Amino acid sequence: MASNHENLLAELRLTLRPGIRADADALRSLVGGILQSYGLPAPGAALDDDLADVAGWYGSRQGMFEVLEDSSGVLVGCSGAYGRSQTLCELRRLYLAYKVRHRGLGRVLLERVLAWARTHGFETIELFTAPVLKEAVQLYERYGFARQLQASAGKADACDLHFSLRLRDAGS
Ligand SMILES: CC(C)(COP(=O)(O)OP(=O)(O)OC[C@H]1O[C@@H](n2cnc3c(N)ncnc32)[C@H](O)[C@@H]1OP(=O)(O)O)[C@@H](O)C(=O)NCCC(=O)NCCS
Repeated sequence: MASNHENLLAELRLTLRPGIRADADALRSLVGGILQSYGLPAPGAALDDDLADVAGWYGSRQGMFEVLEDSSGVLVGCSGAYGRSQTLCELRRLYLAYKVRHRGLGRVLLERVLAWARTHGFETIELFTAPVLKEAVQLYERYGFARQLQASAGKADACDLHFSLRLRDAGS
């Protein structure tokens, strides 16, 4: 699996690396541009603004954040996750620029987050998304994420669709 991922990245001349604070502007531009293309509000400067410093934000929440760079150093993708409790983590910010879509990179980024979550012993991974993000919704359903009835109260960014995936049975 890992080598398949590496081969795909090499073929597309893309590099995956941990996100750093200096990525903030590029991440805002990537994520904001994609959200606006779906008619959704761009991420604002909220108190829990993860994009301002992904290394600090995710690092202080037992999390991970990766960015995908093209051969000129332009950010073309990202994904992150953090622990909400000892057993539950949340996937956030899975985004790919249009020019690198439909090549399996969404699967690569998602599988890396799932592998990270399993390695760190989380039992469940959840995420909040918007119904209009149809490609992502299909991707999550393909991987077995189930829609939760519980609404995502307090989500200010129209991400009112709640999904979760059991990573292992409780007690196993
Ligand atoms: C979701 C996203 C990351 C998928 O990236 P991708 O590299 O194009 O996806 P892949 O090529 O790895 O395809 C994986 C799966 O995604 C889904 N998918 C991808 N493109 C799709 C499309 N045009 N329509 C429907 N489903 C699609 C499919 O389930 C696909 O699996 P399949 O090929 O077996 O049908 C990408 O579309 C994206 O960045 N979307 C906008 C941002 C977003 O919605 N992020 C989620 C925020 S919660």
